[in-house]
Amino acid sequence: MKNRRLVMIPGPTPVVRSIQDQMGRETVAFGDPGFVKDFKEVLADLKELWDVNGEVFVVAGSGTMAMEMALANTLKRGDNLLIVSHGYFGDRFIEIAEKKGLNVDVISSEWGKTVSVADIEKKLGEKSYQAITVTHVDTSTAAVAPVAEIGEMMKKFPETIYIVDGVAASAGEEESLGKMNIDILFTGSQKAFGVAPGLAILWANQKALDRRKSLGNIQEYFIDFEKWIPIMNDTSKYYATPAVNMIWALQESIRLIKEEGLAERYERHRKVAKAMRAALEAMGFSILADPANRAATLSCVLYPEGVEDAKFRTLLAEEGAQVAGGLGAYAGKMFRIGHMGNIDMLDLTGAITAIERTLYKMGVDVLGKGVSALTKELQ
Ligand SMILES: Cc1ncc(COP(=O)(O)O)c(C=O)c1O
Repeated sequence: MKNRRLVMIPGPTPVVRSIQDQMGRETVAFGDPGFVKDFKEVLADLKELWDVNGEVFVVAGSGTMAMEMALANTLKRGDNLLIVSHGYFGDRFIEIAEKKGLNVDVISSEWGKTVSVADIEKKLGEKSYQAITVTHVDTSTAAVAPVAEIGEMMKKFPETIYIVDGVAASAGEEESLGKMNIDILFTGSQKAFGVAPGLAILWANQKALDRRKSLGNIQEYFIDFEKWIPIMNDTSKYYATPAVNMIWALQESIRLIKEEGLAERYERHRKVAKAMRAALEAMGFSILADPANRAATLSCVLYPEGVEDAKFRTLLAEEGAQVAGGLGAYAGKMFRIGHMGNIDMLDLTGAITAIERTLYKMGVDVLGKGVSALTKELQ
């Protein structure tokens, strides 16, 4: 039987029909009054929902561009940056920062765990850091960092810009720049917003905007806050062509978020994550992240003895669900499955039964066990 392929990798996530429809609309001029109004509304909603007292930037690009944008607008060559890394994506900041000529210190956890707030505070006390980066959910481990507690602690370091990578978190894990004392937060459209890849969304509080001003002229052109601020304040202005259809798609995603309610959306993600993990464990898999810090948006799932990674993922794709492989030392030892964005019961049940069928084909008979655990948890 030929199956559809459900994208259960940790982003891009499934794009629902109403969002697809916006991407398929006839493109208009970016100066079109209807589009100018839509773009303005998107920015106003993003500012309000994430409680920012500065700006939000919606720019064509991916999460990596947003990482670079965060550093480029807050740090100059020779500045001290503390990178809190819980895995592959935390480490990505190291390369970006070194290319910029920053003095980098890294404080890392074992994969699946997170660095304690006390350890971060101790490190920040050792010298003056101009900024710190924390990955909210590292997609290589599915461990979630305590960004609210870190934000509270950061009040003791008012000169340090607190940057949070929300690429695998925003719109699925609770975040608020105001409440959590975050100075910069960013994400990509393809994760918990449930839009196709193509947009970077970056919120910057006043403290971060003031830091940008204090830097004067910076080397970067396309990702300079100062170049984009006039457009974000008046969407009829031109700087670089906005991704018109993607912005409409994001508008529809925000409409869905508002319809559901942010608090309800976070609660749904927590509930779904718990149910998915119960289902996976019932089929004999185990979860990498410590029970105390498991993300709501995705899981990193260790194979039981005898289940071979490449064969499993190839068969699973044929059965109708695509998952991602493990990264770093976990390549071949685990798979990564997303459960974020606008997925529903049919998607979840479809993915779990596809895993059951795959295992069955590989000689492991757990038919019914996963879907039974999933259903019971979700009732
Ligand atoms: C936590 C995190 N940060 C950054 C990135 C990089 O984003 P992109 O692949 O959109 O450039 C990813 C990608 O998966 C991610 O998961």
